[in-house]
Amino acid sequence: MSAPMSAPASAGTTHAAVVRSFDAPPRYEAVPLPEPSAEHEITVDVLAAGLHPRVRSAADGSHYTSEGTLPLVPGIDGVGRAPDGELLYFVLPGTAFGSMAERTVADRRRALVLPAGTDPIAVAAGMNPGMSSWVALRRRAGLRPGQDVLVLGATGGAGRLAVQIARALGAGRVIGAGRDAERLKLLPGLGADETVSLEGADGDVARRLGAAAADVDVVLDYLWGRPAQQAMPALARARADRAEPLAWIQIGAVAGADIALPSALLRAANLRIMGSGQGSVGAAAILAELPELAERISAGDLAVDPLAMPLAEVERAWSAPVEPGRRVVLTP
Ligand SMILES: NC(=O)c1ccc[n+]([C@@H]2O[C@H](COP(=O)([O-])OP(=O)(O)OC[C@H]3O[C@@H](n4cnc5c(N)ncnc54)[C@H](OP(=O)(O)O)[C@@H]3O)[C@@H](O)[C@H]2O)c1
Repeated sequence: MSAPMSAPASAGTTHAAVVRSFDAPPRYEAVPLPEPSAEHEITVDVLAAGLHPRVRSAADGSHYTSEGTLPLVPGIDGVGRAPDGELLYFVLPGTAFGSMAERTVADRRRALVLPAGTDPIAVAAGMNPGMSSWVALRRRAGLRPGQDVLVLGATGGAGRLAVQIARALGAGRVIGAGRDAERLKLLPGLGADETVSLEGADGDVARRLGAAAADVDVVLDYLWGRPAQQAMPALARARADRAEPLAWIQIGAVAGADIALPSALLRAANLRIMGSGQGSVGAAAILAELPELAERISAGDLAVDPLAMPLAEVERAWSAPVEPGRRVVLTP
């Protein structure tokens, strides 16, 4: 499936968000609609598509999978109506024609049927941030019931869901760490046993992390950068038994792309650093985890906080101030 977006509009057109420069937000335009070209491809009427950090980074060319191809229609997933009327959640491969369009082409093998009555906006808002912790806990950490989890960066959309998902998947203690005091206060209501503020002097933050989370089994790290660099030695040094495995799952990098990692730390504690994302977990394994996550979001078991905006206002949506933790969802 490919779409020559410079081609003249034809009967097969659709309105879409179109990125023509990595320096500017997408604009709402009529573009030719790609034809389904492979056996499993179908055209779907898009009902909702989430504006995730991953979508922004693809649209500004900074995502690690970006190949620098323009123009592109952003959007990596969404909820849509199939030609047979079924309501689908679909994930798109890294194509140039994404989900931020009235219609797009989806692969049925990367789609799952949602129960009638599902709120498309909640699913479009929650699946991407939710799968970050769901997949990490199931496919990377191999979380066992009763194991303790620290969520580093628990105040964002993905972090808030990570607290709920760790709880839902049977974690023992769940600790949420973040820098926004007001949003930290919301975490106990979502299932956190304890919260840790990442604000303040390095030594104070390290002491707080050590006191609250030294003996966790799993860290879900959305921050990397300086907070991870503070937290790793803080936890490793304060552990009651340093030989106990500590699975450090790298998921996001909102606080920095790099850290300095002292070699001694890897000798002094059983620290197992790994990532979870496209590549480190295969597409089939990610897809296999999605139905249960979708079910939980559809059933309202996991709280998501969407902010629906019309696709036609994509330019405004792109730069609108949105409270962290909320997810903009574009609706055609
Ligand atoms: N690997 C995967 O499978 C996967 C899947 C989905 C998402 N992700 C990644 O996960 C990350 C978080 O995604 P999201 O959807 O939760 O984004 P989000 O809703 O925008 O939340 C980001 C959070 O990070 C906080 N933050 C920013 N800088 C910080 C710092 N220096 N120290 C502490 N907190 C800081 C922000 O809160 P304040 O600014 O208020 O402190 C905000 O709450 C992104 O990097 C995203 O790409 C990865």
